[in-house]
Amino acid sequence: MLEHDVIIVGGGLAGCRAALEIKRIDPKIDVGLVAKTHPIRSHSVAAQGGIAASLQNVDPDDGWEAHAFDTVKGSDYLADQDAVEILTKEAPQVIIDLEHLGVLFSRLEDGRIAQRAFGGHSHKRTCYAADKTGHAILHELVNNLRRNGVTIYDEWYVLQPILEENEAKGLVMYRILDGTIEIVRAKAVMFATGGYGRVFNTTSNDYASTGDGLAMCAMAGLPLEDMEFVQFHPTGLYPVGVLISEAVRGEGAYLRNSEGERFMERYAPKQMELAPRDITSRAITLEIRAGRGIHTDGSAGGSFIHLDLRHLGKEKIMSRVPFCWEEAHRLVGIDAVNEPMPVRPTAHYSMGGIPVNTQGRVRRSGRELVEGFFAAGECACVSVHGANRLGSNSLLECVVYGRKTGEAIANYIPSRPMPTFDPQTYLTAAKQRLQDLIDQKGTIRIGELRSQFQDCMSEHCGVFRTEAIMQEGLSQLQTLKSKLSQIRLDDKDFCWNSELVEALELQNLAIVAETILTSALNRKESRGAHSREDYPQRDDRNFLKHSLAYYSPEAIDLKYMLVVINRFEPKERKY
Ligand code: FUM
Repeated sequence: MLEHDVIIVGGGLAGCRAALEIKRIDPKIDVGLVAKTHPIRSHSVAAQGGIAASLQNVDPDDGWEAHAFDTVKGSDYLADQDAVEILTKEAPQVIIDLEHLGVLFSRLEDGRIAQRAFGGHSHKRTCYAADKTGHAILHELVNNLRRNGVTIYDEWYVLQPILEENEAKGLVMYRILDGTIEIVRAKAVMFATGGYGRVFNTTSNDYASTGDGLAMCAMAGLPLEDMEFVQFHPTGLYPVGVLISEAVRGEGAYLRNSEGERFMERYAPKQMELAPRDITSRAITLEIRAGRGIHTDGSAGGSFIHLDLRHLGKEKIMSRVPFCWEEAHRLVGIDAVNEPMPVRPTAHYSMGGIPVNTQGRVRRSGRELVEGFFAAGECACVSVHGANRLGSNSLLECVVYGRKTGEAIANYIPSRPMPTFDPQTYLTAAKQRLQDLIDQKGTIRIGELRSQFQDCMSEHCGVFRTEAIMQEGLSQLQTLKSKLSQIRLDDKDFCWNSELVEALELQNLAIVAETILTSALNRKESRGAHSREDYPQRDDRNFLKHSLAYYSPEAIDLKYMLVVINRFEPKERKY
């Protein structure tokens, strides 16, 4: 059995920042970090547009209160305001700290960190490294992990947390290279496992974003919070769905329909292209539905709209958003200096997740915490984004709450004895689980079934939702779930068996998908990214509350938790 004081699952921004903080507080704490890819390949590396903080480098009128208000208004008043206060107050300091670590932010003429406009933010406060901000930050953090002596288990797949008597005691994980199963014992377990974009057929997320951490918690009987709130980023490149950063609009690009009209004027006349993402994604979807989408031959009635950068000029495009130019050029053959890009909404981000308090401690319910268990980043719900996240607040959440959770763990460890349990039971069960999957006598290919799950979710739980459509989706999901036991793995070996990983991921996708749909069915109102055509109004009287979904293979039980409102009273959102 392996042993560490702390074991962190996930090599993205939140996990790496937490590990670094623990080591800074006490270098003697033994920290292990497990990731199913190399940490540098975690999805944080794909974050493009920036990280928000009221540094006041470009806009001296900005301040943390304005950032907090924008975040709460953007969340459609579902964010916990104590958590938002921490996020926005600590933002400037975490940016300076990243700079001191060596992160190469883009600069103003006078050498200070540059800041750009982003959707739903009332001031220019998004710090950036061209359109590769996640890349710039993650590389420095991973370098610092090695320097600080964190043990990295890269390309290991975690099968389950060991949770007994409301205590996290360790993990079961297996090495993808050769199938070795290991039990890890630890005083604290932290999940920073990222999001679940791959639940949908069109997403900006990488192939590894399969909601593993969420599914493992759900299987362990822990609740998942606010799972109905899925963010669709307005500008996924058509047809592939990869991200074309909001930074492109932050730098001044326009959205146009088949008539060449800047249609956002009708949906958000003040903010225009820089309205929050829920509003912009709905506007694009409505334009396409109304026949003002565009076909690839340029005619009306197609299924994308145009993102027009041409007036920005080559120099600005190539210096501020070169990666977006490159993506469109490489993937769909568009030269954005001379032609508009085809875009439409793409599944991008999970506002919900594993419920945690502001110390990153995992909740079992509204009142009870789990001993020794922590989470941060996209897999967690602290909840700073409520029903709709503002762009550039997610990197910020990873860094602020990664740091805070690391600090909380470092302070928690000294008084926590190393837990005891019987490792053999877990080892035997894990071996059996993998062997059963390999031996399964089915005929269905993994990719085929996964596509059916993804199509089902995209068709039945997209930008707009209704009771009838979601009910139909849920019943389709039940049929698809029953086929999981009929998949066939061609690869019968344990050596680098990527089919085995995909089969495990598909089991996780299925749990997450069902939790999203069930939570969405239960929220009979429209709020933020959850837009119900049968309940078009926000209903504060009945639904100004967080949902907690408790999964079991037979049924999902919904409970609710209060929202922390201590500064900004809920109002109608207008942009
Ligand atoms: O559009 C973007 O660059 C994405 C940023 C974010 O999701 O925060």
